[in-house]
Amino acid sequence: MQPHKNASADAELEYGLLPFTPPQAALLSDCADDICAAGGPELPGAIACASAAALKIHGSLSFGQQSLLRRYADGQLAMLEFARLLPPRQDPPPSDLPPQQALENAPQCLYLAARSQILLHLVKHRAFAYDLDNNARLIRLVGNFCGGGLQPRNDESTDSGVELSSHAGLPLGPHTEAPYHCAVKPVDGHSPAPSALILTARWNPLDEPTCIIPMTPVIDRIGARAALALTSPSFDYTRSDSFVAGTGASGRAVSILQFDANGGYALRYNSYRYSLNENASPAAIAAFQALNTQVRCGEVIKIPLTPCNALLINNYRALHCRDIIRDNRRLLIRLFGYSRFVSPIVLNEDPLTVQG
Ligand SMILES: [Fe+2]
Repeated sequence: MQPHKNASADAELEYGLLPFTPPQAALLSDCADDICAAGGPELPGAIACASAAALKIHGSLSFGQQSLLRRYADGQLAMLEFARLLPPRQDPPPSDLPPQQALENAPQCLYLAARSQILLHLVKHRAFAYDLDNNARLIRLVGNFCGGGLQPRNDESTDSGVELSSHAGLPLGPHTEAPYHCAVKPVDGHSPAPSALILTARWNPLDEPTCIIPMTPVIDRIGARAALALTSPSFDYTRSDSFVAGTGASGRAVSILQFDANGGYALRYNSYRYSLNENASPAAIAAFQALNTQVRCGEVIKIPLTPCNALLINNYRALHCRDIIRDNRRLLIRLFGYSRFVSPIVLNEDPLTVQG
């Protein structure tokens, strides 16, 4: 597989590129159409369809493609880019971003989400939603619906504060996806943070990139003792703006890093929400400062998303971030995934909804 043109040797170890052949892309597209015909990823039955589709597609892959998928599935990669996928038919960018409600059930959005759901199954992940996030929907539309982008929206008022979430146009600093209570295993009635997020674009007219910081080189640079201090419950975080109003909360005395047998570690961190707990030891304070510094100088891999690629980000092993949105028509489709190693608190099996 070709390394990404932006990646150094260090980051290359964390990045996989998996281009599909035309027959594989056509098979994936047909399978995504089947899920859409049955109502899309939000409806019961989509899991079985996506799982059967992944099995079929897996059988058509080369040994090299299969081993790359296995490396990701086993937690060994920070990111995996699927390329040369088939876009929705006849779908040029509109003159303005349509309202969120009009986009939610658009066939093109459902197609891209169904395609991503199948890709999650290819790496032994399942798409899911939290009860308290994104109105308990699996499909998150990432676009400037609230304002804060480089160009004001037509309906944007200048005096109100804009939420810091993927529904705004503001730049977002490096972070893993919330919730931040725990990873891999539930704690105190909270399901773990997502193992992965998968993103693709319906429209991205200016090729605005999604930015990824693989964390293995960063953790290596801060050193063993600092990494150990990050495993102590020395950090607080503020509530995420993407949670449903009245739900979710800030958190106190959590760790940033934990040992995990699969992949070696699992990380939870947000450069604009995390702070030091009042009881943090001098070693934890120094480690937090070292982490912040090294994240700022960490290597950033920039991937412009299009309808022809999809980016799988290992949420325990990489941070993601983005600059201010320059073209308000940019629309990404995001799904969360859990790996086979994660045990969430399940509220509904199909579609999979978990307690946040
Ligand atoms: Fe995010």
